[in-house]
Amino acid sequence: MPNLSLPFLGHGGDYNPDQWRDRPDILAEDIRLMKLAGCNLMSVGIFAWSALEPEEGVYDFGWLEEVLDRLHTAGIHAFLATPSGARPAWMSQKYPEVLRVRPDGGRNLHGGRHNHCFTSPVYRGFVNRMNTALARRFGNHPAVVGWHISNEYGGDCHCELCQQAFRDWLRDRYGTLDALNHAWWTGFWSKKYTDWSQLHSPSPVGETAIHGLNLAWQRFVTHQTADFIRAEAAPLREAAPQLPVTTNLMEFYGQLNYFELSEQLDFASYDSYPRWGGPDDAQTAVGAAFNYDVMRCLKQKPFALMESTPSQVNWQPVCKLKKPGMHLLSSLQAVAHGADTVQYFQWRKSRGCAEKFHGAVVDHVGHEHTRTFRDVQDLGEALQALNGLQGTMPDTKVALIFDTENRWALEDCQGPRDDLKYLDTALEHYAALTRRGVDVDVIDETRDFSGYRLIAAPMLYMLRPGVAERLTEFVRGGGTLVCTAYTGRVDQDDLCFLGGFPGPLREALGIWVEETDGLYDGETNGIRMDGAVYSCSTLCDLIHAETAQVAGTYEKDFYAGRPCVTRNDFGDGAAWYIATRPDAAFLDAFYSEALEAAGVAPLLPELPAGVQAASRGDVLFVMNFSGRPASVTLPEGTDVLTGKPVGGEVELPVNGIAVVARK
Ligand code: GLA
Ligand code: ZN
Repeated sequence: MPNLSLPFLGHGGDYNPDQWRDRPDILAEDIRLMKLAGCNLMSVGIFAWSALEPEEGVYDFGWLEEVLDRLHTAGIHAFLATPSGARPAWMSQKYPEVLRVRPDGGRNLHGGRHNHCFTSPVYRGFVNRMNTALARRFGNHPAVVGWHISNEYGGDCHCELCQQAFRDWLRDRYGTLDALNHAWWTGFWSKKYTDWSQLHSPSPVGETAIHGLNLAWQRFVTHQTADFIRAEAAPLREAAPQLPVTTNLMEFYGQLNYFELSEQLDFASYDSYPRWGGPDDAQTAVGAAFNYDVMRCLKQKPFALMESTPSQVNWQPVCKLKKPGMHLLSSLQAVAHGADTVQYFQWRKSRGCAEKFHGAVVDHVGHEHTRTFRDVQDLGEALQALNGLQGTMPDTKVALIFDTENRWALEDCQGPRDDLKYLDTALEHYAALTRRGVDVDVIDETRDFSGYRLIAAPMLYMLRPGVAERLTEFVRGGGTLVCTAYTGRVDQDDLCFLGGFPGPLREALGIWVEETDGLYDGETNGIRMDGAVYSCSTLCDLIHAETAQVAGTYEKDFYAGRPCVTRNDFGDGAAWYIATRPDAAFLDAFYSEALEAAGVAPLLPELPAGVQAASRGDVLFVMNFSGRPASVTLPEGTDVLTGKPVGGEVELPVNGIAVVARK
């Protein structure tokens, strides 16, 4: 499997010269500006289908060859994109089956992008011919260092071709209708299927009540998208086996299971658009870091930051400019968490259409004398100073499980309240762990748990086969496991475990959950623990400690005094149950002790609020998102950005960052 093995940290962005083919002066100027900005890596050809195949079967690759040659001559590398993220109008007009069908059965009109059926043999045929031609022509071009396939895969299609593929997939998965009916509990509301042809995707004008069906459809959409990616990549891999394949993924994206999808990729790449300059950059930084950690864990190797904006976006309700220092800080945050590139959407602002006011390195004014351009130049210099970091990883002893299939099940569970706050809860645990200054892997249920000392698994509602057993082994072998409310309720088909929750985790956790109370937004209970009282919200499990020790109790309501936090010493490890959604103060106190007990040392002894730390190999990043100057105590070493020795107490300015090569 080829890697993203760049001899440098990549810097560049989406480059769309196909929009400027009548302006050779601008295309020439682009190269001058790229060198001036310290850019060495462009992504070319995304959405270029109508320029590459202006009419059916007529390919025009000459312009692309010129672009790649020019980049190469200038010492700039390229990810070459396949254009399947959007289609030319002639294709939709002649072959309407390539267009997506909505859940209500209506077929979309031509328009937008990402608007295609993943099953259509016609579309797959066009993609295959295009990718074969691109790969044969450019697979050995010296500028090309990897394939950027399509763009931000997402969504689903409900056409008859997809329905048939869904039925075939179901037959493979369940074997018999009896097995499917049992797994989906179709005795309920007279739902039993008696023929495979009766099966249909969930729809607001049809079936939504069978949770097993809803889950199966979401799994099928990931499967079918992965299958489409496999088909897209096949001709690329055949003609140019040395080039790695990636596609750009999205933040917090819940409709595809990225952990499964990334099996098709050689490395992960990511489009990052945090709301810098919003009400709380420190909070925004937590979400950004979380996503980067997911990206690093998808392949357990560095990823590409394929897109980010050098200034503002144009699609948030309010689009803030990046304040001074934020471009360097936010870009190096991605690098700190495992990005081997920093790339932008896009290199040069489009003149028209939907993204003409989206931030870009080169503005409509056309020259380099802008604040944004200078920010990009500065980052280019910083990346130069950090060269050599590519390929390195943190030594992570802590993992947080955030599982997409579990997220699907929780979002659909019709449990004790609307919105069970899975993502918020996961982010709260992640924030508390990272506030302690430790590197965290964000993984899903399917990943290897051995090697970690502490695993936080908030709200692991759905346990797929073997997961509880592997977590139990993890604890038995000396690990610390932290579970929370609503854990261990259903199996992989969303059937409840019989015989007492948390189902197959009951032994390791040493508790039984009898009931769960839903709390209104704004309603709280309290947790009394170690002489302090903390607040909690959303869900309160009413539990019985079986073999576990009670460490904290509820403060209010008819269940006041009953166990809320328990610890079960099991084998050589410990399994905690926090039966509710505690506040940040609780999580801070809890994880301080739990990490220490688990023998996980922080990267820095003390982190002021809003300051983050992350590491790659021996290099430590300390990043100030707090919005005010912050004083931190750095280890002895070299400041990689300045080349000077550092160590001891230093003041980081607003949006300041220190990168220290530790002795
Ligand atoms: C996404 C897309 C890009 C562009 C940016 C704008 O990430 O991949 O083509 O639309 O958003 O922020
Ligand atoms: Zn379809």
